[in-house]
Amino acid sequence: MKDQLKAILDEAMERIENATQSDDLNEIKVAFLGKKGKLTSVLKSMKDVSADQRPIIGQMVNDTRVQLEEKLEEKKKVFERQELEAKIAAETIDVTLPAKKPKMGHRHPNSIAREEVERIFTGMGYEVVEGPEIEYDYYNFEALNIPANHPAKDEQDTFYINSDILLRTQTSSVQVHEMEKGRIPIRMIAPGRVFRSDEVDATHSPSFHQIEGLVIDKDVTFADLKGTLDVFAKELFGEDTKVKFRPHHFPFTEPSAEMDVSCFKCKGKGCRFCKGSGWIEILGCGMVHPRVLEMRGIDPEEYTGFAFGVGLERIALLKYEIDDMRLLYENDTRFLEQF
Ligand code: DAH
Repeated sequence: MKDQLKAILDEAMERIENATQSDDLNEIKVAFLGKKGKLTSVLKSMKDVSADQRPIIGQMVNDTRVQLEEKLEEKKKVFERQELEAKIAAETIDVTLPAKKPKMGHRHPNSIAREEVERIFTGMGYEVVEGPEIEYDYYNFEALNIPANHPAKDEQDTFYINSDILLRTQTSSVQVHEMEKGRIPIRMIAPGRVFRSDEVDATHSPSFHQIEGLVIDKDVTFADLKGTLDVFAKELFGEDTKVKFRPHHFPFTEPSAEMDVSCFKCKGKGCRFCKGSGWIEILGCGMVHPRVLEMRGIDPEEYTGFAFGVGLERIALLKYEIDDMRLLYENDTRFLEQF
């Protein structure tokens, strides 16, 4: 029995010594210590050993098992260290390789144009405010003097959530929210997204942006409107820009006008850019309609105001001479990088 144990130990030790990978160790463990392993079978034959020898042999089997386990553990550590070293060697970083340059994002032409307009108006003491994109029909139309059957509602067909709630067609709705706050004077601009159920083409998109302007105070006149928008146009398109007001109609202003700026490309001589007219239309404006004031409880005999609305994409397209609005929404970085 003793010799048999010695032989088993020697064989196991040799096999462990010669093992080349951690899988070998598992095999060895099964072959000697497993259920049908060599050492286990010695243990099973203990019943044939005489009672006085049994504790001595039992102790020897145990010692053999402990030695085997220790050796296995020792070898396992060797393999683990080798594997770690190999991994570290494989993962060595070559610090002399040139780094990848992170790609920096860009401000979108719309954002640049919006910030420019905000800069001009905050410089004149205006506050920048926001209103909801999902709006009550009341704020988008009714409170702006556009009742249920008004034809202007047709021109600004939009996406209805139900008969009372819609995606706003114009930032003019923010005028109503501002007046509702009950603080006068008001001197605000409201940039934001608007929606109309238009087909996409070079000049239309179902979603675009406007910047609304509203001033309400005592003694505000059409001269203030003209002076303010003249400064705006000169700041935006250059000192030598001229402005021209054409009579127009908007339900929420009276009188109403559209403002053209002299073509900054040909300086008014007429070119492809301004379609030969020398002028480019850029915004709608007017004196706030007395009815709009009354509906908000503002006395039109005491207070007057002016309002204007300008398309943000229109400004971005003009300023950067982009001839297709779709380019602004495609997010092609090769296009955006130019601004
Ligand atoms: N909301 C108008 C539109 O979308 C633009 C506009 C015109 C706004 C005149 C105004 C204004 O504030 O006074 O066509």
